[in-house]
Amino acid sequence: MHAVILAGGFATRLRPLSCSRPKTLFPIVNKPLLQWIFEEFVDNDIKEVVLAVNALTQFHIKQRKLPKCGLKIKYVIDPPKTPLGTAGSIKNAEKIVGHSEPFVVLNGDIFSNINYKQLFDTHIKTGALATVALCKCDDPCKYGVAELEDDNCIKSFIEKPTKVQTPTNLINAGVYVLSPKVFEYIPKGKQCSIEREIFPVLAKERKLFGHRFDGLWMDIGNPQEYLLTNKIILDRLFLSNIPKTFKNAKVKMPIKVDKHVNIGKQTVIGPYTVLGRNVTIGSNVQICNSVVFSDTKIGDNTIVNGAIIGEGAIIGKNVRVNNGCIVADQAKIRDNINLIENFAVCPAKEVSETILKRNIIC
Ligand code: GTP
Repeated sequence: MHAVILAGGFATRLRPLSCSRPKTLFPIVNKPLLQWIFEEFVDNDIKEVVLAVNALTQFHIKQRKLPKCGLKIKYVIDPPKTPLGTAGSIKNAEKIVGHSEPFVVLNGDIFSNINYKQLFDTHIKTGALATVALCKCDDPCKYGVAELEDDNCIKSFIEKPTKVQTPTNLINAGVYVLSPKVFEYIPKGKQCSIEREIFPVLAKERKLFGHRFDGLWMDIGNPQEYLLTNKIILDRLFLSNIPKTFKNAKVKMPIKVDKHVNIGKQTVIGPYTVLGRNVTIGSNVQICNSVVFSDTKIGDNTIVNGAIIGEGAIIGKNVRVNNGCIVADQAKIRDNINLIENFAVCPAKEVSETILKRNIIC
């Protein structure tokens, strides 16, 4: 079975962290999301994967040299400067996917344990042209909402409806099976959205079906959702071993710590904290509810609470990184700085004085 992963979007909601890495490579408890997806594919008998990306995303993915888990991986690239949208990039994969059998499509920013085989079986049974995995959501207005009939035929599909328009709380999980005939609905080489332009047409023709599932499902689209995904996975994972270098530090579980991490005396790590590879943390530091990417340094007496710290960042001594803050890759925060809530620092920028107003340093 083929699977197409859509991973060529701009991830604007995850800026400035996404300025230097595509969303699908964001680490989820120290493992890139794309690697989690590959592993899930292998468990579901998916053998061939097409990554629908732009040239920069392809570069980043190739650089990471992720384990392929035995999968055959190919790329289709959106034209420079003209992203094809979700449907346009699926059409771009037509030459690789072919017309012999239905295939799975997955948004590259979804963390889920959906059973693709069951989704595929539902698709074959109903004879649909498209079968969308649907999950329940408390805030459906941010997603595509489906109204189902008794036989699971989707009566209407509305992308990001207003509260008044929302017919149900069943949302498109960003995972679907398409029959090759759907290629005929999508214009070639043009920007086109599957959610806004193709699903509503298929719904009108009664060729769009839903497949409900209630397993694990997270969209890492914005910083809060990204932190929440890490939190949920931390809760599910077996508690990590505590390396010897932690002997003078206090740990509040759950946490996840990668290799070569050094932590100073009287430092408190956790709960809900992920530390990437080669992270160095000083003495008397407190870090909780946060994700710290690899190669970062954090100085003595600093407090990090509810934040994301990018790769290779340097955080000085006596710094406060408050809730919702993002410090992007290679950024530097000087000693004694207080980053107020939701403050974002762009890659490689330096913050050298206390910032009082909410802003992004670009
Ligand atoms: P935001 O800018 O934050 O909305 O993110 P996004 O556009 O990257 O992601 P969105 O959730 O809107 O898109 C769903 C999935 O489709 C993501 O995995 C995107 O990478 C992917 N995607 C969106 N637009 C394109 C596109 O034009 N080309 C390709 N190849 N993939 C796309």
